[in-house]
Amino acid sequence: MKEPDLRDAERRKFILEGLGLTGGLVLVSSSLFSACEFTEFKSPNEPVGGNLVLDTTTSPYSVLAQPGGAVAVAGVVVIRISPDQASALSRICTHQGCDLDPNDNGSIVGDRLRCGCHGSEFNTGNGEVLKGPARVGLKSYPVEIRENVLTVIME
Ligand code: FES
Repeated sequence: MKEPDLRDAERRKFILEGLGLTGGLVLVSSSLFSACEFTEFKSPNEPVGGNLVLDTTTSPYSVLAQPGGAVAVAGVVVIRISPDQASALSRICTHQGCDLDPNDNGSIVGDRLRCGCHGSEFNTGNGEVLKGPARVGLKSYPVEIRENVLTVIME
């Protein structure tokens, strides 16, 4: 039987130390990950919690100062219907989920918010379906108007 070579012993020691170091790193990294809390991912198009406060004296909300103005913010399209009325509708089309941003895929014609994907149309005041293929209306959020500020109540 061959005597173990000194270099073999050194290699073995090097490997074992390496494994010990690696094991330590794995232990440290797993304890770091276990300390993390996962938060639910929300699409930028989904309404986020909390009310939206929109000052119509500042851009980009200044379009909401006049009837007919509309802007997409967070997960809603906010539409100024009249001097004393505004609506906030989900900006996700209920047909197949296209974005209804009126400055992009969506458009407003009269009292209709139209989806550019397949032509569904929704009432700008309450989100009800006026024309398919969508069958379900858009979720509507109350909007309070105080002087130059619109507050969309998201809860
Ligand atoms: S996704 Fe809007 S009409 Fe189809």
